[in-house]
Amino acid sequence: MTLWVLAKDDRVKITTKTIRELKGIRPIAAVTAYDFPTAVHADEAGIDLILVGDSVGTTVLGYSSTVPVTIEMMEHHAAAVLRAVPDALVVVDLPFGEASLDRDHVLRVSRRIIQMGAGAVKIEGGAEQEDLRSFLVDAGIPVLGHIGLLPQRIQVEGNYRKFGRSEEEAEALLEAAESVERSGCFACVGEMIDADTAGEIRDRIGIPLIGIGCGPSCDGQILVSHDMLGLGTEKVPSFVKVYADLGRQIRQSFEEYREEVIQNQFPS
Ligand code: KIV
Repeated sequence: MTLWVLAKDDRVKITTKTIRELKGIRPIAAVTAYDFPTAVHADEAGIDLILVGDSVGTTVLGYSSTVPVTIEMMEHHAAAVLRAVPDALVVVDLPFGEASLDRDHVLRVSRRIIQMGAGAVKIEGGAEQEDLRSFLVDAGIPVLGHIGLLPQRIQVEGNYRKFGRSEEEAEALLEAAESVERSGCFACVGEMIDADTAGEIRDRIGIPLIGIGCGPSCDGQILVSHDMLGLGTEKVPSFVKVYADLGRQIRQSFEEYREEVIQNQFPS
């Protein structure tokens, strides 16, 4: 299939400014992508923001968490997504091993990602990452925040769960969201936040809250493409609507092909 000749509509290039200005206008639609064809299809579908997430570690590379993902892996996948030259804003995750290093190192790495053509980097964390985020934004690096469940800290947290159900945790999340806004981020991802708390955060901050597993009261939604397309090998989180069953289709196609080959029925 010649993906590169698919007709493009006359959509304008989405920037961090566009995403910021969509708050209160219409919800933002975002997905992850880690390769060229997925980025082309997401872009053709009119997706606003494509995240080259460090979830590439679990969805594509076979790791049990995002922790082993390196910046070299992120750059490799980001380059493939950027080759699709999407109109969507492309954001690249700073993986665990980088976002915890000294800020000059993080700046160097982030600059490299922006110079590749990405629109922004994403950094997990609340108030404890405020200085780092502000430092990057002041240096001209657009940053997408990420609060709530932080997959890079799963080893500390222990398990995947909903955040912000207690009053104390809801307050901490509101402070984290305000910290993200204060540091100059153009938007904030909220992961696995109680729906009422997510609604409060959305109303409290002036930048878009893009939710995953946070219910409908956000300024937009993001899903991991492998989950929503039925392409993963692990159980899909219960909040995900699965729009396709690609994993099954792939398996059936391989079975059919194998059968034709071993039965000597391969079409001429
Ligand atoms: O890496 C990722 O896919 C993410 C999403 C869960 C937002 O950070």
